[in-house]
Amino acid sequence: MNTAIELRHATRADWDDVAALIYQSTNHWYLANGKSAIFTGEPSSTLLFCQVYEDLDPGRCLLAIDQATGSIAGSCFYRQRETHVSLGIMNAHPDHAGKGVARRLLTFIRNFADENHLPLRLVSSAMNLDSFSLYNRAGLAPYAFYQDMILEVPAKGISSEAPVGKSLRDATLADVDAIVTLEQEVLGISRAKDFEYFIRNESGDWHMSVIENNEGQITGFLASIQHPGSSLLGPGCMREDEDAIALIQRELDARRGKTMVWLAPSNRPAITQAMYDLRAKNCELHVAQTTGTPPQINGVVMPTFMPETA
Ligand SMILES: CC(C)(COP(=O)(O)OP(=O)(O)OC[C@H]1O[C@@H](n2cnc3c(N)ncnc32)[C@H](O)[C@@H]1OP(=O)(O)O)[C@@H](O)C(=O)NCCC(=O)NCCS
Repeated sequence: MNTAIELRHATRADWDDVAALIYQSTNHWYLANGKSAIFTGEPSSTLLFCQVYEDLDPGRCLLAIDQATGSIAGSCFYRQRETHVSLGIMNAHPDHAGKGVARRLLTFIRNFADENHLPLRLVSSAMNLDSFSLYNRAGLAPYAFYQDMILEVPAKGISSEAPVGKSLRDATLADVDAIVTLEQEVLGISRAKDFEYFIRNESGDWHMSVIENNEGQITGFLASIQHPGSSLLGPGCMREDEDAIALIQRELDARRGKTMVWLAPSNRPAITQAMYDLRAKNCELHVAQTTGTPPQINGVVMPTFMPETA
């Protein structure tokens, strides 16, 4: 029998429970399906999700509450930008699996996007059929395929060399307009405040690089986060494969001795081959899904889950 569920938004008092749910539900699913745990730090490390999403979009953590017990049966974050709504880190408690909890959360967020006349976008695992099916059954369609690549960055670092006629450097707040324009042209979305947040880096967990040509035009950017709850490169957009390779190398070099993961577009073999040359391995597969008209990608896109970017 399905449990009675009510939806409400989280407050700060819920954060410990939300973090525990993210940690337990995600690791449970992967371990139960013969894969490795996703979160390997302390259970509290997933408080990172509550903190980052709250910093960026206060009050947008949606909870499914089991009315019989008052406990949290599911949680999900969503973010509205001028071009889209994105959905991140959907979790249902294992005790409630298959009872429609995630569907209730998704329906609320889908309605929110529809009411605002915006597409709903996300990146879902292609190895996790429960997740893929949840979104696909609700009408989201895949438009891009990514392979998650993992590498323990050598302590001596990784050399990064800009292609001829280009140079690499740290991003600054003065770059945000050019970064926003580039992402709009490559991926069709716009979200200046995310980039300002990464570059301000008040937590000290973020890093962001840009690549520019001799005329000073930015042709690529890539952010990364290194924290016990998330060690990811992304988001990033680049005009050319060679921009992407140089930026990945530079962000990896900024994370010496750490094990990092990034989503590489599987239809750009020059990039994936360069990553194999670095001894990176595949550890997951993801698809970008959206409602409405699928975007036309005009370059290289590297999405992330921190925060969710499709
Ligand atoms: C993925 C997850 C959130 C699903 O939560 P859930 O509450 O069990 O999902 P629901 O019961 O709401 O069911 C999801 C929908 O997918 C459908 N579905 C599931 N497997 C399916 C399959 N193989 N083929 C077709 N449809 C399928 C269900 O029928 C249901 O659709 P319906 O409501 O229209 O019938 C949950 O398994 C979870 O938390 N996993 C670990 C964390 C995770 O992987 N999160 C996703 C990150 S991308």
